[in-house]
Amino acid sequence: MPFPIHRPRRLRSNDVLRKMLRETSLSPDDFIYPMFVTYGKGVKKKISSMPGCSQFSVDLIVKEAQKVHKLGIPSIILFGIPEHKDERGSEAYSAKGIVQKAIRAIKDKVPGLIVITDVCMCEYMSHGHCGIVKKGRVLNDQTLDLLAKEALSHAKAGADIVAPSDMMDGRVAAIRDALDSGGFEDIPIISYAAKYASAFYGPFREAAESTPSFGDRRSYQMDPANRREAIKEVALDIEEGADIVMVKPALSYMDIITDVRDSFDVPVAAYNVSGEYSMVKAAAKLGWIDEMKVVMEILTSLKRAGADLILTYHAMDAAKELNG
Ligand code: PBG
Repeated sequence: MPFPIHRPRRLRSNDVLRKMLRETSLSPDDFIYPMFVTYGKGVKKKISSMPGCSQFSVDLIVKEAQKVHKLGIPSIILFGIPEHKDERGSEAYSAKGIVQKAIRAIKDKVPGLIVITDVCMCEYMSHGHCGIVKKGRVLNDQTLDLLAKEALSHAKAGADIVAPSDMMDGRVAAIRDALDSGGFEDIPIISYAAKYASAFYGPFREAAESTPSFGDRRSYQMDPANRREAIKEVALDIEEGADIVMVKPALSYMDIITDVRDSFDVPVAAYNVSGEYSMVKAAAKLGWIDEMKVVMEILTSLKRAGADLILTYHAMDAAKELNG
């Protein structure tokens, strides 16, 4: 008969005890902060669906990156909004592309900040899909070439890590090969390994101006109903050379985070995506929740589920809170 011998409340009776026995801890070291870089000068364009987030031109993103670094956040992930989009996403792999410019500027002024780049075609394609489109279909193998060129050009510009998010089959191997041939064998790959076709990306598509002009991404991103398939996707990416694997989105996919953590011995990242962020912001604005408490609970829960790293738009606010 457990009660009254066992009383779990004994270990919850005061703050010091609770702190001693806490199983999961959160630190700014866990965070990767997503940032959007756009063309122009002196531009800070607020993203209406993601309060607190903006697109910055290169000059201003450097200043913002300095703030991120000062807060003790070790890393950012960069998304680019190019001036021109076309059918082959040329700006994605141009040395003069928007992301390439931003990498150089940030590494020049804030060398201690780890710059990760999102490797994908959707922001650069006139049709908004993540690969080359022919007759309404997104072509897999032909796209690999562009992704490899894009990752290599990011590495040449000084990126510390590349993160393919396109969900084409075989892209990790193609990128690894291109990096190694280019002399960048020490640049790690974080693959968006289990990336689901999710409605939670809605606000991001406004932020990155990457909404597909026709159809959706269900022929390449995963079906939200699938759990076993995530293990297959992650296993393939690790075999192809992924150093860190990501689960995305995070909150509705905590079972996947835990499965991946339990099945593989590589670091796991979770992407707390735009829709997850905007829901918290909207409820907080209405006065329905305590924003900072909810943010801390969400981020701690993602660590508890098994994430080593969290990509989150809350990173700056959460780091301020953690730094006290
Ligand atoms: C690019 C990409 C997307 C996100 C990250 N990289 C959008 C998409 O796949 O449609 C979503 C990030 C977010 O919602 O915060 N492929």
